[in-house]
Amino acid sequence: VAVEKQGFSHFMAKEIFEQPQAIRATTSGRLPRAGEDDLGRGEPSFPELAELDVPALAARAKVTMLACGTSWHAALAGKYLFEQLARVPVEVDLASEFRYRQPIVRPGDLAVAISQSGETADTRAALMEARRLGATGLAICNVVDSSIAREADRVLYTHAGPEISVASTKAFTTQLAMLTLLAVHLGRRTGALTLERAAGLLDGLRELPVALDAVLGQAAAIEIIARRWRSARDWLYLGRGLAFPVALEGALKLKEISYVHAEGYACGEIKHGPIALVDERVPVVVLALEGPGYHKTLASLEEVRARGGKIIALASAGDRRIGDLADDVILVPQVDPYLQPILASVPLQLLAYHLARLEGRDVDQPRNLAKSVTVE
Ligand code: AGP
Repeated sequence: VAVEKQGFSHFMAKEIFEQPQAIRATTSGRLPRAGEDDLGRGEPSFPELAELDVPALAARAKVTMLACGTSWHAALAGKYLFEQLARVPVEVDLASEFRYRQPIVRPGDLAVAISQSGETADTRAALMEARRLGATGLAICNVVDSSIAREADRVLYTHAGPEISVASTKAFTTQLAMLTLLAVHLGRRTGALTLERAAGLLDGLRELPVALDAVLGQAAAIEIIARRWRSARDWLYLGRGLAFPVALEGALKLKEISYVHAEGYACGEIKHGPIALVDERVPVVVLALEGPGYHKTLASLEEVRARGGKIIALASAGDRRIGDLADDVILVPQVDPYLQPILASVPLQLLAYHLARLEGRDVDQPRNLAKSVTVE
């Protein structure tokens, strides 16, 4: 069945606006039912992983995540989630590098291949190599029955629905949702997460679509910000902790569809080089949501400001300080810090979308890019 734009001017816009529904589709079958008895409240359902020896994975083995592009950014977030919530060690590899660096993978390890299309040649080959070395292969895919889904030992589908735009949006946020669910599941099985904490995270995931709707409600305000900065030719995106992969993804979105140069950096890294780029012509998007690291992020923001950089801050609703520090502010609802990456990705997608549209770019089919890269 042909997928239509349903009144949106581009598939990308349609797919951005589908995210509340897409996250619901990813999570609903895995979340405990409302009214679940006390014990079930913190347990997401992963029957596919029943045979996985999770305590051994945590104590004597490791997870290797393999992906490219946007899916690699999800994997980077997955490392933070798995290690912090489940205490399971994770390595993240660019699939295109993995096979050529003589990776150390052993029987008992879990290789997680993340791919929207399930057809990315590098990710396919990396998964094959990890399995050859003895790892169990787990695929996180959107496209059902795709090559990677078929070649893995186990598959988890994100159920985001067809993603037509070359620039990935809902596939990314649903990958993040799946990785969060998985981290909670693993955390329960290693004992790293209490039932209460797990139940709180799952409640947060259940309520996330409403928060996403609130973010999407700011699309017009984000378009105004895009108009203000449309002449900029270099952008920086800064984030710390889980916001770091989101910053990388925000910069990739802008590069892909507007052909404007953008770099994502961890906040703490800017003083090691990129701060030299900063002047009054460089907008710096700072992910400054409340939570661990907030004060350090503000310190980075001040460093940028002191050098004349223009700040577009992404902050939590209710933040009273940020308005004095930033040139533009986008507020997102308060959610658990582990769920912030999903929410924070959306304004950055909208910003890239509007900047590309204002420049008259071919938003859905950017030059030189294909939706899935089936050659190595
Ligand atoms: C995303 O906006 C990109 N077009 C690209 O980086 C993509 O994420 C990458 O090619 C991986 O694709 P996959 O998830 O289908 O494997």
